[in-house]
Amino acid sequence: MKTMTTTFACISLISLCSFTVVAHAQSACKRVDDTSGPLPARSAQALQNATPEALAAFRQLSLDPPRGKIVDGHLTLIDNNPWQIAMIRAVVPEPTRSQFCGGSIIANDWILTAAHCVKNSVVREDPTRVEIIAGSSQYAIGGERLKVAAIHTHPRYNQATMDNDFALLRLQTPMTKGQIIALADAKTDLRDGTTMCVSGWGAISEGGPGAIDLLGAEVPIVSTPVCNAPASYNGDILPSMFCAGKKEGGVDSCQGDSGGPGSAVINGRTTLVGVVSWGEGCARRLKYGVYSRVSTAAEWIATTLGR
Ligand code: ARG
Repeated sequence: MKTMTTTFACISLISLCSFTVVAHAQSACKRVDDTSGPLPARSAQALQNATPEALAAFRQLSLDPPRGKIVDGHLTLIDNNPWQIAMIRAVVPEPTRSQFCGGSIIANDWILTAAHCVKNSVVREDPTRVEIIAGSSQYAIGGERLKVAAIHTHPRYNQATMDNDFALLRLQTPMTKGQIIALADAKTDLRDGTTMCVSGWGAISEGGPGAIDLLGAEVPIVSTPVCNAPASYNGDILPSMFCAGKKEGGVDSCQGDSGGPGSAVINGRTTLVGVVSWGEGCARRLKYGVYSRVSTAAEWIATTLGR
């Protein structure tokens, strides 16, 4: 892939923050290769507005920050993926935040995530048990913490097969941070080899710890026949799903990224095409990441949002 490297001197609150942005031509996934020490540019704003308690909790988390992976991804910023939100456990009060899934802003009071992110022991489809963080590159600090008014799980979600792994969260109050991403519609056709950007705070290796900073990775979309081959998923990939990743593995979404955005540039527009759903392990050879295919839920989403 062709890459252009530009070094920016950062006019910001933190003085020694010179960082490098590697922009990939035609890519949906902007990367920030950060080289400026333990608390780089990323945190300036969040840290400024944080309470002393929140700062202490964050410093604890930052002692050994995992860097540079989702699994083999790269550091990104919420500004590059402003539709990304974190789902956190409502029972855990500030300043601690316990993140378990991602999601995408599709209207100023609606989030699209995965059904398995709400139909589980943490949420039990109870809107009082989940809250979201919008507008922060570090789910653990800053941004905006919002409550959920209602959860709509896709009526044809099947826990056994992961068919239609979609859920919608309606927020109690509209977001003031973050940005809406355009949705794939029923006619959106995903060409094999299209680069998708997947992002989240999930595990940085199979069974590994989660990320502090938002991470993103680029993965090629793989055709369903290839993904359904015996050595891959042997027929388990249904029409409501698609796969993305490399044959040799190495780069993937992972536990904790679920529900989060898979975006691609379609007809020049950054579009939400996938929702992180499942996979056998993470980043294993021939075991691609499996995503819910947003185009197949377009009608249900429109109806549920009442548009
Ligand atoms: N089910 C996982 C979650 O709840 C996401 C798994 C994605 N796995 C993968 N290999 N891409 O966070």
